Parts: sequence; C-alpha cells; structure tokens
Amino acid sequence: MKFNLNNFLSGVSLALDFVEIDFLGATSNHARRVAYISQRLAEQFGLNEDEQFDLFSYAMLHDNGLCEDVLQTGIPDQVPEDRHAQLERYTLHCDIGEKNVAAYPFLTGQRNIIRYHHEKFDGSGFFGLTGTEIPQMAQIIALADTVDNLFHFETRDPENRVIITDYIVNNRGKAFAPALVDAFLGVSSHTSFWLDMQEPFIDHALARKAVVREIEISTEELFEITRIFARIIDSKSKFTCRHTSGLMEKAEIMADHYKFDREWKTQLLIAASLHDLGKLAIPTAILNKDSELTEKEFAVIKEHTYYTRAALSRIDGFENICNWAANHHEKLDVTGYPYGISAHELGFEERLMSCLDMYQALTEDRPYRPGMDHESAMEIMRKNVRSSKIDEMIVRDIDRVFKKT
Ligand SMILES: [Fe+2]
Ligand SMILES: [Fe+2]
Ligand SMILES: [Fe+2]
Ligand SMILES: [Fe+2]
Repeated sequence: MKFNLNNFLSGVSLALDFVEIDFLGATSNHARRVAYISQRLAEQFGLNEDEQFDLFSYAMLHDNGLCEDVLQTGIPDQVPEDRHAQLERYTLHCDIGEKNVAAYPFLTGQRNIIRYHHEKFDGSGFFGLTGTEIPQMAQIIALADTVDNLFHFETRDPENRVIITDYIVNNRGKAFAPALVDAFLGVSSHTSFWLDMQEPFIDHALARKAVVREIEISTEELFEITRIFARIIDSKSKFTCRHTSGLMEKAEIMADHYKFDREWKTQLLIAASLHDLGKLAIPTAILNKDSELTEKEFAVIKEHTYYTRAALSRIDGFENICNWAANHHEKLDVTGYPYGISAHELGFEERLMSCLDMYQALTEDRPYRPGMDHESAMEIMRKNVRSSKIDEMIVRDIDRVFKKT
C-alpha cells in the first residue's frame, strides 16, 4: 500500500499534544512549531529533499519519549508557567525517544538525532558532545526547540521576538554553532516567520513548507511503524498497556477463527493496538484510579474514543483502522459514545472490536475488582445482547472460542 508519512506524523504529533493536554492543561503544537523552524533552517543550509524530510520527521517525533519520561520522573511543579521547557528537563526522554522510533523508515538512515536533540555546541548538554560531534540535524532541532520553549504563541507582542533573538545571539558559540545562529537570524528577520507560528496558522505554514513523502509498504511494515503510537500509549498507563495487549491477543485469535487473510488480520491488530490511543488525553489520575469512577470522571473517560478518531482520521489509508479502533464504545441501539452511531453503520469488525473490548475489560483485573471468569463475563455479555447493544452472533462465537482456551 501507499502510505503518506506526513499524515502519519501529523497523527503522532496530535497524540503527543494529547500528552501535553494532560500534563500542561493545554495543547501547545510544540512538535509542529519545532518542525517548522527546523525546516526553515534546513533550507538555509541547503539540505537535500530526503534530508529535509528526515529532519521534518525527527522534529515531529523529537519529544515522543516525554510521556514515559514524565511518568517516571514526575510532573514538575512549575508547569504551566515554564511550559514545555520544564517537561524536557531530563535526559531520559532523549534515550526513550530514540529507541521508540527504531522502526520508522527514515530516508537517510541517520541515527541519534533524537538522542542528541538537547546537546549544546560547547559540550554543556546532557551527553557532553561538542561541536561537530553533534549531528547537524540534532543541532538544528536543539535551536528550534529552544526558540519554541521561549516563544509564547498566545501573544503577538514583538517584544517576545526580541527576547528570543537576544537569547539565541547571546548563546552563539555556547549552546549553538555560530553558523546556525546566523542562519536563524536570516529566517527570523521576516515578520512572517513569527506569525506563521501563531496557533491558527502553524498547520498551514508547515504544510506549505514541508517536503511530502509517500512510501510503498506492506501492512506488516505498517504495523511496525504504528508501534511508535503504541509505545507512547503503553507508557501512559500500565493498566491501559495490559488491557491493550490482552485485546490484541484476543483479536488475533478471533481473526484466525473467522479466517481473515493476513492483510485484514494485521489491520485488525493495528486497530486493537491503537483503540485506546485517545486515553493519552485523559488524566492519569483518572486512568489509574483504584476505586470506582464518579459520574464526572466517567464523562471524562468517555471522551477518549473521540480523540482516537481525531488522531487516526488524519492518516490516509487508515479509514478501516480508524473506524474499527474509534467505534469500540458505540452500541447497536445508538446508546454508545461518543457519536451514538446506529447499527446499520457498524460493520462486522467494529462490532467484533466492541465485543472483544467488553470481554477483555470484564475478564481483566481492575484496580477496584478482580477479573471475572469466562462464564460470569458471558452472563453480562448476553445481557447486553438481550438489550440489543452488542452483536449476538459474535458473542456466541466469543463464548465458543474462549470457553475452550
Ligand atoms: Fe526534548
Ligand atoms: Fe521539545
Ligand atoms: Fe476504550
Ligand atoms: Fe479498551
């Protein structure tokens, strides 16, 4: 299949914004602005199109390790005043981020760009690399990242631009290579550079400047690439991670039971792995709560499939995967969420995903109750069949298949 990497990266960057919605209380478009600044600097350095595309990918993905980092090191007190800079204060997200993108098809195959995206020219960065020891792309992202962490997109005050420019110039030969600072002064001398990064314009500005790449890949290779998403989701909550791997195991068994071909089965597995992607936007305290949820908390949880759709619908060729993943809480009697889709719009795979998600949820341990045995779970599933919420045939098949195992 043809796969547009730009759309994919757009979906991933939205997922990363979800993490920020949770940690910072607002979406910041950080990845997109860093990609835009990097792109403008790449043009100044005469990078070829493949290199420009790789730089765009690295920039969009540069903080993908942040979710796991912040969960391990704790959310800093100063957020949101210092915004992103506070979240990026530890080395860990550089190593995690580098590891997570191992399967991404970079065109020039450069390594360690994400690992070294906080290095400083004079050797005072996380890993102590100096000058040309730091890959050029990592140097570009480091400067772009600093600019964005100083940039307050919510204000159009030109004073903000002066503060940033002064900071960059004062760090010429310290944090940044002199040639890089000069290139920055070139692109940032135009008012349009700053206005492009304002909230309503950044998407369009980025689309106008970025090199577009479509690659030919198999569904199996696609599965590998989507593991980037899955790793970010898994790192958010151990509980969601266990739930997702349980669902994937069951989806595989049912795909074999229904004799799905390889392509169809892989798409179902990708959908299963990403179905709760939107939980990135749900506060961790609610996801990991060890008692039953209040009505208000449940209302918040119910938003997650909307966010799953928001990220996956950006990706061309993901139409099936998006529907199978994002409709798993819709019900045949239109009482599901978040859309209240009706039975005739819910295809077989969506019904299957919905039944399997329910079966997985009932049989797994929750912080506030142990998992049910097969028979008790089936009792509840059959009750849902009687009230016309889930598919009768599929529930019967689940009963037959999982009773044996
Ligand atoms: Fe970072
Ligand atoms: Fe960053
Ligand atoms: Fe869900
Ligand atoms: Fe789920």
